[in-house]
Amino acid sequence: MAAGVWQIRLLTASAALALIVATSAWGAGAPALSALIWIAPGHEAAALTRQPAMCSRAAAGDAQVMIGEALFNAPMLLGGQAARADMSCASCHSNGRRNPHFQLDGVSAGPGTADVSSSFFSPARANGRFDPKPIPDLAFPVNVSRDPASGALERFLRGLIVEEFSGREPSPAALSALAAYVRAIGDCGAEQEQPRRLADQIALVRLSVMAAEHLAAAGDPETAAIAVAGARHQLGLINERYAGQGLARERDRLLAASRALQPAAGSRAPELAELRRWLTGFERNLMPMLARSEVRSLYDDARAGLWVSRNRPE
Ligand code: HEC
Repeated sequence: MAAGVWQIRLLTASAALALIVATSAWGAGAPALSALIWIAPGHEAAALTRQPAMCSRAAAGDAQVMIGEALFNAPMLLGGQAARADMSCASCHSNGRRNPHFQLDGVSAGPGTADVSSSFFSPARANGRFDPKPIPDLAFPVNVSRDPASGALERFLRGLIVEEFSGREPSPAALSALAAYVRAIGDCGAEQEQPRRLADQIALVRLSVMAAEHLAAAGDPETAAIAVAGARHQLGLINERYAGQGLARERDRLLAASRALQPAAGSRAPELAELRRWLTGFERNLMPMLARSEVRSLYDDARAGLWVSRNRPE
């Protein structure tokens, strides 16, 4: 059984930085990883250690695609229950592709399926039918044209965010960046999977902050705030992998780094200069510290496997 919808309602937006006490199939009181909330039973180790390979069709350093990737991984882009459960586009479309391990009660019919018009996501748009579909691999268009001239992708994404996922109206800049990222998602030929490591999460922290800088400079503070919250979400995902007694210093520093990104009361996102300073400090100090102890964290395949077997429900 996957985590039930009622459990998700208990989660708050700040849950990412805490080890969630799962009351799900993992047994009352057992610590759980928020990264496993919507993972099918038996798929935990695979979901923690592997991800689909993605080869971008865009030129390296394309700012639009970078902003789009940050938003794609940011739960705050979605509203309602999805955002509260720290779910982002990437929860279903891992690394832009498809998550074969996704399973959530009331939303899925089996691993890798979801009903995006479920009342769980949006009471307004719910069609009243339980209608889960296989999650598509975004490297290969199915029903939605990627042709920039038609604007079909932008219209589809707007409907998805606002109507299916109860999100706020995205700014035109947010929508075109998200569409640019979706258009850039490519497959890698024969190579179907790649490991899931600290470096991947670090890359998402960095690109989220850089995206926030771009957006703040372009006068879009609302979308910048979504990207900053996305960076904090990624820091939370790193934090929960640095479990265990020997890693308390790393966890303290992650928490402090996340707090430093918290916008001051009354402002929507930290100032541009603050974001620059934060990123420099993160790259110089916290990144090397985390890299040194990665082998002792749950980014290590053997440790992740052990963690799963120890915490597996009876
Ligand atoms: C709960 C899982 C889930 C989440 C979260 C999710 N999707 Fe999807 N997505 C799906 C499913 C399932 C479909 C297929 C729906 C259908 O066929 O009716 C789909 C379809 C799509 C398609 C159309 C693919 C095609 O060519 O037909 C795009 C593009 C897409 N999603 C992008 C996104 C983006 C961007 C986000 C975040 C704003 C997102 N999705 C969030 C599950 C999800």
